[in-house]
Parts: sequence; C-alpha cells; structure tokens
Amino acid sequence: MNQSVKKLLVTCALPYANGDIHVGHLLEHIQADIWVRYQRMLGNTVYFICADDTHGTPIMIKSQQTGISPDKMITQIKNRHEIDFAGFNISFDNYHSTHSDENRKLVEFIYNRLKKNGLIKKHIITQLFDSTKNMFLPDRFIKGTCPKCKASNQYGDSCEICGSIYNSIDLIEPKSILSNTVPELKKSEHLFFDLPHFTEMLKVWTQSGVLQSQISNKIQEWFKIGLKQWDISRDAPYFGFKIPNYCDKYFYVWLDAPIGYISSFKNLCKKRTNINFKEFWEKNSQTKLYHFIGKDIVYFHSLFWPAILEASDFRKPSKIFVHGYVMVNNNKISKSKGNFITARQWLQYLDSDSLRYYYSTKISSNIEDINLNLRDFINRVNNDIVNKIINIASRTSSFINKYFDNKLANKLDDLELYQNFLKTSDEIENYFLNCEFNLATQRIISMADIANLYIDKKSPWRLVKDKSSYNHLHEICSMGINLFRIIITWLKPIMPALSDRAELFLNSKLNFNLIQKPLLNHKINSYRKLYSRIEISQIDNLLKNKS
Ligand code: MSP
Ligand code: ZN
Repeated sequence: MNQSVKKLLVTCALPYANGDIHVGHLLEHIQADIWVRYQRMLGNTVYFICADDTHGTPIMIKSQQTGISPDKMITQIKNRHEIDFAGFNISFDNYHSTHSDENRKLVEFIYNRLKKNGLIKKHIITQLFDSTKNMFLPDRFIKGTCPKCKASNQYGDSCEICGSIYNSIDLIEPKSILSNTVPELKKSEHLFFDLPHFTEMLKVWTQSGVLQSQISNKIQEWFKIGLKQWDISRDAPYFGFKIPNYCDKYFYVWLDAPIGYISSFKNLCKKRTNINFKEFWEKNSQTKLYHFIGKDIVYFHSLFWPAILEASDFRKPSKIFVHGYVMVNNNKISKSKGNFITARQWLQYLDSDSLRYYYSTKISSNIEDINLNLRDFINRVNNDIVNKIINIASRTSSFINKYFDNKLANKLDDLELYQNFLKTSDEIENYFLNCEFNLATQRIISMADIANLYIDKKSPWRLVKDKSSYNHLHEICSMGINLFRIIITWLKPIMPALSDRAELFLNSKLNFNLIQKPLLNHKINSYRKLYSRIEISQIDNLLKNKS
C-alpha cells in the first residue's frame, strides 16, 4: 500500500493508579498496539503514549485504607503497570503520570486560558456531605433508593435497575459508603466549564467521521437532552492539583486526566530532542491524533475533551476508536465473580501473544462486548496458530534442512499462488487500517488453509522417495516457506514475539513491502519450535492459583 509518511500520536486511556492491570484493560492496549505496530510497519512516524491517571477520591481513599501515602502508592502502581504492559509487548514510546510537573503546568495553563476566554462560571451547589469523614461525597460513595423505581442499594448517579440518571441529592435514604452514616446537605461554590457554548461546534465535529457511527448516533441523543455546564472543581480533601487562588479547591480528576495525554507527550519531547511539540498540538496541526478508549468514557472524550481543546486553542483528535467491554466466560470482570484475571497472573501461566491473537479474532470496528471464553481461547490458538500456521513451516523446513543445506530454491513452484497471496495482502492491510482485526485474522487463517492444501496436494513426503524429483521437492518446500513468510508478516503486528522468532528462523526481517519479492537462493536457519501448544492445565492453574 502506498501512502506518504504520516506523523501520528496515539494514546490509550490512562489507567487509574489504584489497582493492577487486568485482561479488560489489556484489550484496549493490545488493540492500540496492533494498530500502532501496523502503522510503524508502513514507515509512518508514530508516538504511542500513555500514563497513569493518579488523581481523585478513590485513589485518596485507597491510600488512606492502606496507610501508604498517595505519592508512594501511585509510584508503586505505575511501576507495576509499566512492567505489565511490557510483558504484553505494548510498545509505548512514553508512559508518564498525571501527577507530574508537566501536567500541573499544562492544567493551570489551560485553566487560565479558559478563564481568560470567559468560559469558567461560578455557581453555588448543594451536595451530600459526610460529616464524620468531613468531606463531600462523590456519587460512587453514596448508596440509597432510586427516586424513580424505588430500587434499593443504588449509587448516587444512576440506577442499575431502571437505568435512570439523577442527582445524588434526590436519592431516597442516602447513606455514605465510607462511614455508613446519613450524609447531610451542604452548600459549596464550584467552578464550571461552559460546555453548552460549544454545542454547535461539537454537533459538527462529532459527525465529521471522527467517531464510529454507533457512537455518533448515541451522542446525538445527548444533544437532544442538552449539554450542561461541567463542574471542574472539587472541595478538599482531594488528591489532585489545587486550583490557583483557592486554598481548598482542586481540579476534578477528569479535567486533568486527558490533559495527561498532552503532558505525557511533552515529557517524551524532553527525552527525545527531535520531536516538535507544537507540530502535534497547535490548533492547525497537520499531524494526526488518535485516542483508543472504552465505551464507558465516550462522554468525556467526545464532548468535554474536544471542547476543552477548542476553548484553549489546541488541536482536536483526528479519530477516537471506541471498543466494548471484555467479559470473562460471559461475566463482567469482577473480584467477586472470581474472573478478575490480572496481566501478571496471565503471564505466570500463559504467553502474551496468545491473548493478543485471541483478542484480534474478536476486535472489530463496532463496540459490542467481547467474550474471553477460556476453552474457546485454547482451541482458537492451538488450531489457528499451531495446527495451521506453524505447521506450514515445520512440515516444509525439515526437507530444506535435510536435503538442501537450509538453502531455499532459486525459483518458486507456484508463482500464481504466490501472486494470489500478494493480492490478499492489500485486503488484509485495509482491515488493519480500520481496526477490523477480526476480519484480518479470518482472512489470514483462510490463506493458511490454502497453503496447507497446497502442501497436501504436492505431498513433499512422497517426492523425497525419488531422487529425480529433488528439484521439484526443493521448489515446493521453498514455496511453503515463502507462504509462511507472508502469513507471519501479516501476523507481525498481532504476535510480535512469534514474529521475532520467525525472523530468526527465516534469517530475514518481515515487513509488508518486503513480501513483494520472495526469498530465493536464501539461507534460512534450522527450524526450532516456534510456538507451543497451550494445555488445558495452564488455564486450570491460572484459575486455581490466582488470588
Ligand atoms: N482513568 C480513566 C481514563 C482517563 S483517560 C484520560 C479510566 N481508567 S480505567 O482504568 O477505569 O479504564 C482505562 C481504560 O480501560 C478505559 O478505556 C476503559 O474503558 C478500559 N477498560 C476497563 N475495564 C475494561 C473491560 N472490562 N473491558 C474493556 N475495557 C476496559 O477510565
Ligand atoms: Zn431505578
């Protein structure tokens, strides 16, 4: 595929710094990483960044509960997150923290611009206050009876039973989760960002192809309800950045979190001298900005975030890729369901490429939830990768090794078949570009089937019995190795560890543009097991031994 070199900045949502990375988070990082690796293979300049999202009440409470200071806790968790992502070969250029100097400066800078542009309003609001803890309660720290359907035990923002959304002060018989006491009503002045001012801009922007259609349709419903002023302040006690000129007010975590995208990039610019910060963030930037996020945080990324960027004279995202939720064996991931599998637990029993491959077979451009069924996972990986793909190399390389001194023939047995593979390559690349990895893997496997059929038909194990057929045998096995090379090239963004091993075996780098020319007269290395079959016991042990 031809295209001129592009400059891309790609982000994943910033994971909260209050727990380990689990298989749900990994979906997003794997999806983004595959896309990034594909873009890099095209020769584009890609900066792939992320950070930990460190502020907010839950992180403050967790630090109180564990007795570890917030600063220490977020440093420890960030280290764990970085190790976990590296274990899955997520190829970030930078992993930063929202609790950083760069972020503090940028948040204040943006806030001052908003203020200067008359976009910050003050209002006095009434909220639920826990007088035993001496703090205002965020919605998720209050439970009570739904004012609409009267279901009990519902959170302060919405009802899980009837789906209605309400203000926490309307909850019937509210209780603080922190102290189990009845909270009181208390007034406080808050700062609001004038989101409605950007309604027209957002209507146009959200329909300009930056979002999947499922998402932009949903957003049109939000416009019908009407956008409201957005409360960007929180009262002490809070873990976050203080608002300048207030002694007891903090910026709401969701204001400073997306600004963390900019500040992580800024931090990268300090580490590498050849990147031009402005080129990526100024209003008329010609570079591309892509966010990968889950469906639960669309409102923040498709309304608040572009409005804040517009309001403070920065560029807006080029596209937001939204994915659904991972379910494990059809259940929501939760500690109580016993299906909360962390990244590090996974790596204790299984490899990273297997999950990357399995998710790829399910990742599409829609936002349906994705089920991680562990039985299906084993079958999928063993059938597709071991039985079909690796098989192509193992069954042909033994002859190349034994009879031809590991050297490939100077001619392919079936040029037409090779050409067919090349034609398919355009189709597969298009699937990568559109994040339709499910279609890419389907096509890759159907081509592996064709390669195996070809080898079956040519039966090298029969030709080897007759010395006069050796030339033919050589060309057939070289053909098999060349088809394997194309297939592993296609899989390279998905399975980087496997493709590294395959590069060693083939004694050649893999890239989309290189497959135009087959490997001929080329010395490969002796075949060593490229991928091991997954055993049921590995899954059993994972489920049994995870804490
Ligand atoms: N900190 C915010 C994001 C701030 S971005 C400026 C946050 N953090 S999170 O840790 O809760 O989630 C991080 C990402 O992981 C989100 O995109 C979220 O949708 C995704 N996922 C969390 N659990 C998930 C699943 N079970 N399945 C798929 N994605 C999941 O939100
Ligand atoms: Zn209800």
